[in-house]
Amino acid sequence: MAKSKKVTVIGTGNFGSTVSFILAMNGACHNVALMGRNYDVAKGKALDMSQAVNAGRQHTIVKAAKGPACLSDSDVVVITAGAPRGPGMSRDDLLMQNSEIVRKYAQDIKKYAPEAVVVVVSNPLDAMTYVVLKETGFPRERVLGMAGILDSARMAHFIYEKLQYGAGQIRATVMGGHGDTMVPLAKFTTVAGVPIEDLLDSEEIGEIVKKTRNGGAEIVNLLRNGSAYYAPAKSTAVMVEAMLNDTKQIHSCAVMLDGEYGGYKNIVSGVPVMIGAGGAEKIIEMTLKPLQIERFAKSVASVQEMVEKLEKIDFFTDNK
Ligand code: 2OP
Repeated sequence: MAKSKKVTVIGTGNFGSTVSFILAMNGACHNVALMGRNYDVAKGKALDMSQAVNAGRQHTIVKAAKGPACLSDSDVVVITAGAPRGPGMSRDDLLMQNSEIVRKYAQDIKKYAPEAVVVVVSNPLDAMTYVVLKETGFPRERVLGMAGILDSARMAHFIYEKLQYGAGQIRATVMGGHGDTMVPLAKFTTVAGVPIEDLLDSEEIGEIVKKTRNGGAEIVNLLRNGSAYYAPAKSTAVMVEAMLNDTKQIHSCAVMLDGEYGGYKNIVSGVPVMIGAGGAEKIIEMTLKPLQIERFAKSVASVQEMVEKLEKIDFFTDNK
């Protein structure tokens, strides 16, 4: 009999709960485990979702995880833990605070789920993915950050808003870090195969690129208390389901680079990857124009800066 599939979601805030809910309701896996700082909250949410699963005539078993040992047997672990940003904050402002939280969970995963694929969604995303890679020592295929799918979905939404047609047919591409320097790629963006450059003028495309970069902040400023979670959670579920079903779909994800895109090494950034049961099974290299290469370099440099801040405080050598 095939082994039943298990996904553990760390963090029971809005983001973690919504990812768990989507996975449970889609019947994507047999077991979803919710792990959070407060066991009662995890238990309450797991109960609520278990009942929703029955209402939806699904079979997923949703449980709360009592301690790190519950990570064992996970095929995929999603890390959503950490503080979200507030109004006026950049994702990078969360670096020090969230590095400590993410490090602790990475150590638990290394110990109890050494074969799992890890999807990181805590911010600042690319730096947190780097922290998980260093702390687990997992091969780069098995640690991916979720951001490109979200940023591309935001870009697709803004294109629809401008065009007022093509809903569901817009394929947008965003590369680079999940931060202010992300690189939306109009050249690789189409509506039912038609390049957006044939549908919108450069001023309109420039406006869409700006809105995409500001997509998360716009929602933070409206909510006033916490950040977006529906689109981030759906984007995470898309990645997890590609792993569980071994679909080999291509999505933009944050991964450790090892010589790709002109020789970047030992740094995490968002690039198109093929996702399967093994995680990031293949990194796809697209041919970029000089301006895109320049923007990608800027984005990688901003992640490098954060990693250097952590190195300066000996974060990686002090294996607490
Ligand atoms: C966002 O962009 C949470 O970083 C995430 O909304």
